[in-house]
Amino acid sequence: MSESVKAAWDELRALPSPRLEALFAQDTGRLDRLASKLELPGGAILFDWSKTHLDEARLAAFTGLAEATGFAARRDALLSGEAVNTTEGRAAEHTAQRGVGDEQAVDEAAMFHARMHGLIEAVHQGALGEIKHLIHIGIGGSALGPALVVDALARDGAMVDVHIVSNIDGCALEGAFEACDPATTLIAVASKTFTTTETMTNASSALAWLRENSVDDPYGRVVALTANPDAAVEWGVDETRILPFAESVGGRYSLWSSIGFPIALALGWPDFAEFLDGAAAMDAHFRDADGADNLPLRAAFADQYYTRIRGCQTRGVFAYDERLRLLPDYLQQLEMESNGKSVTLDGAPVDGPTAPITWGGVGTDAQHAVFQLLHQGTNLVPVDFIASIAPGDALDPAHHRILLSNCFAQGAALMAGRANADDGARAYPGDRPSSTILLDDLNPATLGALIAFHEHRTFANAVLMEINPFDQFGVELGKEIAKQIEKGGAQFDASTEALLAAAGIA
Ligand code: F6P
Repeated sequence: MSESVKAAWDELRALPSPRLEALFAQDTGRLDRLASKLELPGGAILFDWSKTHLDEARLAAFTGLAEATGFAARRDALLSGEAVNTTEGRAAEHTAQRGVGDEQAVDEAAMFHARMHGLIEAVHQGALGEIKHLIHIGIGGSALGPALVVDALARDGAMVDVHIVSNIDGCALEGAFEACDPATTLIAVASKTFTTTETMTNASSALAWLRENSVDDPYGRVVALTANPDAAVEWGVDETRILPFAESVGGRYSLWSSIGFPIALALGWPDFAEFLDGAAAMDAHFRDADGADNLPLRAAFADQYYTRIRGCQTRGVFAYDERLRLLPDYLQQLEMESNGKSVTLDGAPVDGPTAPITWGGVGTDAQHAVFQLLHQGTNLVPVDFIASIAPGDALDPAHHRILLSNCFAQGAALMAGRANADDGARAYPGDRPSSTILLDDLNPATLGALIAFHEHRTFANAVLMEINPFDQFGVELGKEIAKQIEKGGAQFDASTEALLAAAGIA
């Protein structure tokens, strides 16, 4: 850690932490400063960070930290296609999928999108026979993004009924088989590497299912979404149904590429294009806004304050919108696989905690299950609330009014608390932070912007912690051991040996 970075952290640690209500009382301009509206293609999004402990002094000190860690240069390196993934020596070009970044990468992404668009039109027009269902097989980044977006936006009727299968547990694939007619089902095999055990095993079983159900040419019903087209050809997919994407697009950032095939197939290409446009608008904000005016960076300031200075080990995400029920799962991979690291860019041990555990749920359900701990538990958990002003349902408007009232009430209650001198069990300590992201409407463009906001927030956190968010070596060891078990002959610890014997695998 350089002297200037160390000095910035020392300054941050020395700042006082008044209670949240005191921060409002001291500064009448607080709301204007910390609740910012961003106008986007699909409507505005309000990012209200005023119920966090960010204040003028802390914003200034964090801006100093961002300067000391070279935030602007690292952001430029990301957006210009430099090899920001230093351990693997490659760029991280997800923004190029949205038209923002290195010209060559943007052109290549546009070419691959045109190819995907062509295949989607062909499917819609019946070139592969009648297609009513899609079984999309992928895992991690090859599943979580499509699952989130399809679940959020295809509720009012999808052009194709999409089932996303990730787990190797056969129960997952069997569930999809039960819901689909093999005669009208397309299979998408989504894998950046086209080697992932779970995906390839599920893909083989899906082919067998088509074959057993008298589909004449099972391979003719398979589409491959991959950065390894050669492996897809070798596996048997016809070249015309392979939708490639660039190696420099990370798995957890890949829903904008051909991994987004189910999104575009279910919603139609115009909606997919709007989804990309919304993300591009957030990219432009992230590229152009400076210091604490940069919303993903501002969010990262608060994240760093709670993780590194207040010692919070988790961060909660609660969507007050049923359509976003899969958002916490999506953010778990994005944040924990990116920033769950122990070494800095130099390979030295980090000087403080890195990513907290991201968890969450959907409001109001979570209020009746886990919010007790948020209000009165001993863990301090910074919380994000996410909601849309426009309802997603057509029922009595009372539903949406009560939903939003509850969302805002939780933030107010966490902050204010309530003293009770006579009865500690009924006292609320308050001073518990929350941020609120309020969309005018949830639609393809605003959802694209919301996801891109979180990508950039994750990156900004990584810059402030001086770590590489783009590798994920931590997932490899377990995979290796599972393969050794499959192969047989290796010796493990006594507990693992006993478990294997109990399950009849030894
Ligand atoms: O094991 C983790 C991981 O590599 C993720 O980063 C990735 O999203 C997922 O597996 C799936 O990988 P692939 O798309 O190559 O099948």
